[in-house]
Amino acid sequence: MMTGRTVLITGGTGGIGKAAAIGLASMGARVGITGRDRDRAERAASAIAEESGNPAVDTFVADLSSQAEVRRLAYEVLSTYPRLNVLINNVGGFWAHRHMTADGLEHTFALNHLAPFLLTNLLLERLIASAPARVVTVSSGAQSMGAIDFDDLMGEQDYSGQRAYNQSKLANVMFTYELARRLEGTGVTATVLHPGMTNTAFSAEDPARKMAPIVFVVRPFMKSPREGADTAVYLAASSEVEGVNGLYFASRKAKKSNPSSYDTKTTARLWEVSADLVGLPADAVE
Ligand SMILES: NC(=O)c1ccc[n+]([C@@H]2O[C@H](COP(=O)([O-])OP(=O)(O)OC[C@H]3O[C@@H](n4cnc5c(N)ncnc54)[C@H](OP(=O)(O)O)[C@@H]3O)[C@@H](O)[C@H]2O)c1
Repeated sequence: MMTGRTVLITGGTGGIGKAAAIGLASMGARVGITGRDRDRAERAASAIAEESGNPAVDTFVADLSSQAEVRRLAYEVLSTYPRLNVLINNVGGFWAHRHMTADGLEHTFALNHLAPFLLTNLLLERLIASAPARVVTVSSGAQSMGAIDFDDLMGEQDYSGQRAYNQSKLANVMFTYELARRLEGTGVTATVLHPGMTNTAFSAEDPARKMAPIVFVVRPFMKSPREGADTAVYLAASSEVEGVNGLYFASRKAKKSNPSSYDTKTTARLWEVSADLVGLPADAVE
C-alpha cells in the first residue's frame, strides 16, 4: 500500500499519467499531477479523486517545455510537499517538424529529456531526504532505435521527428542509468520503462501526425491507458522492485535497452551536456 506516501506525476491530465495517478491514488498515495492548463488539471484531479476514492490529489500547473516553468514547478512542489517518495517523469511528445521552445531549444529534446532531467535534479534532495524513494521515467520502445548525436542534439543540421523522438527516449534511459549510479547508497532508486503502445492523445497536438492513417490501423491493438500505466505503477509502488536501481522495464520485466545506453562514458557525457543546457553544475547530485 502507498498510504502515507507522496507521488508527483508529470502530465497527469490524460493518457498514461492520469491512469497512473488513479492507480496510485487507489493504493492510498497522496498524488500530485501536472498539466499546462489549470481548468484541465483541476478537472483531471477531480476525476482521479472520484475514480480512486481518494481525495488527496493536488494539481500543479506548468509548461515543462520552459525551464523557468520547470523551476517554478519544482519550487511549488518543494513548498507543498515536505516529503516526496515517488517522482514519475511521464510527460513526452512527438513533433514531425522542428519547433523551438521559449528557451530556444528543440522542442522534443527540451520537453522529453531536459525537463525531466532538470525537474529530477531540483527535487532530488527532497527525494533523498524522504528515502526510500523512487524516480520512475517513462521512455519508449523507440529508445532501441535511438542514437545520441552529440554534434547535432537539437537537429539543427538535419531534423526528423522520429529521430528526435528516438534520441529523446534513449536519453531518458541514459539519464536513468547515470542517475542510478549517482544515487547508489542514498535509498533513492531510478528506473525507466516502455509502457507499450497505448491508446492516448499522444502526439495529437502535432498537426502532421494527428491524421496519420497508421493510428487508425493500430488503435484497436493498443493498450488502454490503465494497461499502459501498469508498469509505471508497478515500479512506483511494488515491494517486488524495492531497491531495484538502474534498470529498464517493459510489461513489469527488466529488459535489455539500447546497447549504447550501457556505455558509461556516453551517459556521463550526456549528463554533463544536459546540466550545461539547463544551467546546473554537472556534479549536482554527487
Ligand atoms: N501512448 C503510447 O503509445 C506511448 C508509447 C511509448 C511511450 N509513451 C510515452 O508515454 C508518456 C505519456 O504519453 P501519453 O501517451 O500518455 O501522452 P498524452 O496522452 O499526450 O499525455 C501527455 C500528458 O503530458 C502533458 N503535457 C504535454 N505537453 C506538456 C508540456 N509541454 N508541459 C507539461 N505537460 C505537458 C499533458 O497535459 P496537458 O495537455 O493537460 O498540459 C498530458 O497530461 C510520454 O513520455 C510518451 O513518450 C507513450
